[in-house]
Amino acid sequence: MPVTLNQYLFELKQKGLIDHQLSRLLDAVANLSKEIREKVTLGALGGVLGLAGTENVQGEDQKKLDVLSNEIFVKGVQWTGSLAGMASEEMDHALPVSKEYPRGKYLIAFDPLDGSSNIDINAPIGTIFSISKAPEGEITDESFLIPGREQVAAGYVMYSPQTIMTFSVGKGVVMFTFNPATGQYLLTNEKVSVPVSTAEFAINMSNLRHWATPVRNYVRDLLKGADGPIGKNYNMRWVAAMVAEVHRVLTRGGIFMYPWDNRQPERPGKLRLLYEANPMAFLSEQAGAQATNGTQRILDLQPEKLHQRVAVFLGAKEEVERVKQYVEKAK
Ligand code: AHG
Ligand code: MN
Ligand code: MN
Repeated sequence: MPVTLNQYLFELKQKGLIDHQLSRLLDAVANLSKEIREKVTLGALGGVLGLAGTENVQGEDQKKLDVLSNEIFVKGVQWTGSLAGMASEEMDHALPVSKEYPRGKYLIAFDPLDGSSNIDINAPIGTIFSISKAPEGEITDESFLIPGREQVAAGYVMYSPQTIMTFSVGKGVVMFTFNPATGQYLLTNEKVSVPVSTAEFAINMSNLRHWATPVRNYVRDLLKGADGPIGKNYNMRWVAAMVAEVHRVLTRGGIFMYPWDNRQPERPGKLRLLYEANPMAFLSEQAGAQATNGTQRILDLQPEKLHQRVAVFLGAKEEVERVKQYVEKAK
């Protein structure tokens, strides 16, 4: 009989690896993900497709499902007594836990619905979360400006043919598959490990002409295959949802990249540091992979703004090292 998420969290608690508040928070995330999954699965039947008619603080059109997932997330975690505050891609500012609930010791930052452009085409999407210790005092945007290495837990839920919750509490990475027949998450991978080498890369190739020279050179060399300087043939994938790309890297290896590009030169990248790059970098490192912005370890970056963006290169060690060399050489 596979281990249920409840059992697993209980065991982590018994071993002293997590406390009661963290256990309850992870359980709450699992539960709310079932609610998001239900909406996602219904699609047009649930009236959840299309635009919400609003923009988020980053100037992106919000989809109905972005807004709905955000509401489900906030409602799903705020009562737990595990949190002091929340921050989300879909909320302009940090949200302290309402006075009607007990204040807990953690902060959660989340991307309620990752891969929004996939919603209406019935392609993979997900929810990403990052948990850290809350500082004392009032919770503001500044409270969330904690380097990723201080995360106590991080993970994602992927809604695709299977719904899978992947997380780490800093002791490796585990995956649980949702069984809709029983409504339970069951342990299906207890030691996620990313191979050091890979022959698979993921990047939005349509932006090639906009990238910085070292990244362009690196990808051009990948494309040269066995005849080029790297000397092997690569395969390519692009799902357009970071959750799905990272899930692929964690299950069969690879490298995922979202570099800076000159379409909006003032932006260091597209992905957000606090609720996309940091949690995924935490999972990557916990699974033996690497994550960098090209020059620095993602987890060591000092966040300066709640919705700060960052370039991301994440995955197989050997390949991430190679990108770093291309960047280094160009200095
Ligand atoms: P979100 O839907 O939360 O805004 O994130 C989308 C991100 C990320 O998940 C994905 O890797 C990337 O945007 C896709 O970008 P392209 O539109 O360039 O494919
Ligand atoms: Mn996202
Ligand atoms: Mn999102």
